[in-house]
Amino acid sequence: MKRENMVIVRHKQLAKNIYEITLSGHLVEEMNEPGQFVHVKVSSQANPLLRRPLSLCHINKKACECTIIYRKEGIGTTLLAEKRPGETVDVLGPLGNGFPLDAAAKGKRALLVGGGIGIPPLYELAKRLVEKGVAVTNVLGFQTKETVFYEQEFAAFGETYVATADGSYGAKGFVTDVINEREISFDVLYACGPKPMLKALEQAFPHKNVYLSLEERMGCGIGACFACVCRVPGSETAYKKVCSDGPVFKAGEVVL
Ligand code: FES
Repeated sequence: MKRENMVIVRHKQLAKNIYEITLSGHLVEEMNEPGQFVHVKVSSQANPLLRRPLSLCHINKKACECTIIYRKEGIGTTLLAEKRPGETVDVLGPLGNGFPLDAAAKGKRALLVGGGIGIPPLYELAKRLVEKGVAVTNVLGFQTKETVFYEQEFAAFGETYVATADGSYGAKGFVTDVINEREISFDVLYACGPKPMLKALEQAFPHKNVYLSLEERMGCGIGACFACVCRVPGSETAYKKVCSDGPVFKAGEVVL
């Protein structure tokens, strides 16, 4: 883990309140696992004090660039959305444990399921799985049509289905509806999104190889503040920290 003032090279809006930012810097040399995140401090002012955990969407080592997709929703990300190319942001990372690529061997089938702003880390994962000869199917869930992003980008890696909760685009309903209706089969499932979605997947496939990336509120991002703890099944006292033990866990490892 290192810290750097990374330079914004591109920054654009993709959908309603969804932004894509590309940063350049030596920190990219440290970025290896899909599913890891960085902790970004937008302003040197006292407010907002805390860094914002943002997952890595695309790592381009050759160009020394990484791309992050985030949702503008609080003070930190609202300030970030105002930043222009050429400006810098204070980035700490890479942090956490990402998706295990070796869980899917060459020739196997991986199902990637993302919900909303949980979708971006699956992009680098899809890229890396396809590179190693894994067949990838993507199911992307959104609230509504105006928040849909990266459908074409995922389609470049394999069959891609989109669902919206209100039915305004793609299939109406949840990602689990799409998986059932399309009877999608797979060897390994990787998912990132809101807890109810992860829980539904965990319950739907209890005997499968399932890896879940949790979106949790964070403080320090480095295992020091206990802001992100999750209980461990079967224990009243044991816990894991999403920031340093996760954010990716095998299904059943923590209580959702
Ligand atoms: Fe501080 Fe996880 S965010 S321990």
